[in-house]
Amino acid sequence: MSLSFLSECKEKVFQRIDALLPDTNKIISSMRYSALADSKCIRAGLIFASGNLNKEISELALIDMATSIELMHTYSLIHDDLPSMDNDEMRRGQASNHIKFNEATAILTGDALQALAYENIVASPEITQIQKISSIKALADACGHKGMILGQQYDLDAENNEYDDIKKIHELKTGKLIRVAMTMPHMGNEKQKKQLSILDEIGKDLGLAFQIIDDVLEVSSDSGTLGKSNQSDLLNKKLTYVSVFGKQASIDQALELSSQCISKLEKLFDRDEIGDLLELAKFMVERKS
Ligand code: IPE
Ligand code: IPE
Ligand code: MG
Ligand code: MG
Repeated sequence: MSLSFLSECKEKVFQRIDALLPDTNKIISSMRYSALADSKCIRAGLIFASGNLNKEISELALIDMATSIELMHTYSLIHDDLPSMDNDEMRRGQASNHIKFNEATAILTGDALQALAYENIVASPEITQIQKISSIKALADACGHKGMILGQQYDLDAENNEYDDIKKIHELKTGKLIRVAMTMPHMGNEKQKKQLSILDEIGKDLGLAFQIIDDVLEVSSDSGTLGKSNQSDLLNKKLTYVSVFGKQASIDQALELSSQCISKLEKLFDRDEIGDLLELAKFMVERKS
């Protein structure tokens, strides 16, 4: 796995976040605390790797898109860890935001990161007007009441046996953002329409595979390796792929999804342009944290 590719993506995104958030008050310190903590930056990696297939988009536009996707993701994690959600005290190798600051500040920090994710795309000098409109729409669709938030609600409902479609939960709570990371660099361009729908399909499968492995790692790894608490699925009686299908069948499904994505990519695109995407598709299911 070209982990160096992900480190490069992370460096570019962290530089941008650092510039967006000069540390001047408590809410900014809290935003920086979570957004600049040690993370894999997989969604940013997907933006750059998928963006490589669009010769008409600039590196700076991709940096802004990747930064916004990571800000949005960080917001979702801060809220996901809250006592009223998963009640997890560790994230990205450090105390969760509400433990380091307090619950009210953690809620506000998530809210502010979400707003910044949109603002950063709108303010980008390198993203065209049409790309901005379609990117913001796609991001809002992916993260709102038809996407990530609906998935999070179903995830909570499943704790009380009020919802039981585990595939749908994963496709919504995690898959939607991963899907939009695959497609955003191709938005607002009629010529890219076919490409966009293929990448959307691949993103859907990769997103599901990624969350299946998250469920597997929660039961097979430890919080030190993961950099986050790994007891809450059990404590909260979460519905997970492992609780429904067992560990090995879950791993098999994730590997199968990833290898199908790899075959599709190899069949449809020029190998020179998809090297990073192929490695990411592998890494997303072979990762250890
Ligand atoms: C964790 O995401 C939450 C899920 C949606 C599975 P990541 O595993 O990508 O977390 P970071 O960004 O590297 O901390
Ligand atoms: C997180 O899912 C999904 C979102 C934040 C939208 P999980 O609750 O399963 O992920 P972890 O295990 O806390 O990272
Ligand atoms: Mg959760
Ligand atoms: Mg959680």
